[in-house]
Amino acid sequence: MKKLIKGARFTPRNYSDEVEAKIQQYKHEGVRLPQRHLLRTEEQLAGIRESAKINTALLDYISENIREGMSTAEIDHMVYCFTTDHDAIPAPFMYEGYPKSVCTSINDVVCHGIPSTKEILKSGDIVNVDVSTIYKGYFSDASRMFMIGEVSPEMKRLVEVTRECRDIGVRMAQPWTRLGDIGAAIQEHAEKNGYSVVRDLCGHGCGVKFHEEPDVEHFGKRGTGMMIVPGMTFTIEPMINMGSYEVFIDEADGWTVCTDDGLPSAQWESMVLITENGNEVLTE
Ligand code: MF3
Ligand code: CO
Repeated sequence: MKKLIKGARFTPRNYSDEVEAKIQQYKHEGVRLPQRHLLRTEEQLAGIRESAKINTALLDYISENIREGMSTAEIDHMVYCFTTDHDAIPAPFMYEGYPKSVCTSINDVVCHGIPSTKEILKSGDIVNVDVSTIYKGYFSDASRMFMIGEVSPEMKRLVEVTRECRDIGVRMAQPWTRLGDIGAAIQEHAEKNGYSVVRDLCGHGCGVKFHEEPDVEHFGKRGTGMMIVPGMTFTIEPMINMGSYEVFIDEADGWTVCTDDGLPSAQWESMVLITENGNEVLTE
């Protein structure tokens, strides 16, 4: 047996003494903190960054090729081929029984729309393409909106404000602030513009698993919720509705989330890494 070396750490940790000291201080104050396994090691970060790079390149490829008249099944095909060509796996495929490689959500579909050969992109549509990649066991996640042909000014504004909500959320994702600070800032911007924030779906920890702790809500109160700590990787993916925030799941497929009032919804998603002095955008 090896001798124990005095002063050696027997619980490996991947963050500095400064971070540890702050964790101890906040723990003492009773603040909610992420579990240690949610603070990524350098090795995990290297894998997550590689996965994220493929995920971003995939969305760039979709941006260049998406067009009016195309079916959402064709988008699914592009996602499957691009991802596997890069030695990666589309994370949605067979995830909890999800049947396709990507989610395509048009107009009043909030998220988790299932691609179909029968669904054709037409002028005036706004569509969210949500892609997630597994590379060497590491996960990444992002989505963008695409406007097909001539889109009404009202829907264009929804898409733009939703992007601003995502960007504000990303800017708010700072070490030693709270998750509620992100939610509150997004909610303020959405509501100031006359829109509502979907309550029933949220962002999430991502990197070592597809969906892990914490839940990242896109509404809330400043100064509340889990402390944001360097080493965390999570998504910010506000779903913003033109009308009410109420949604329902289509019973026919058990996945498609739609707005209750039939009015359009938009979503943009990024994944961030919290660093000791800010954040790094991993996907967009
Ligand atoms: N990509 C979605 C997200 O942003 C999750 C989709 S789950 C699926 O979290 F099974 F529908 F793919
Ligand atoms: Co996500």
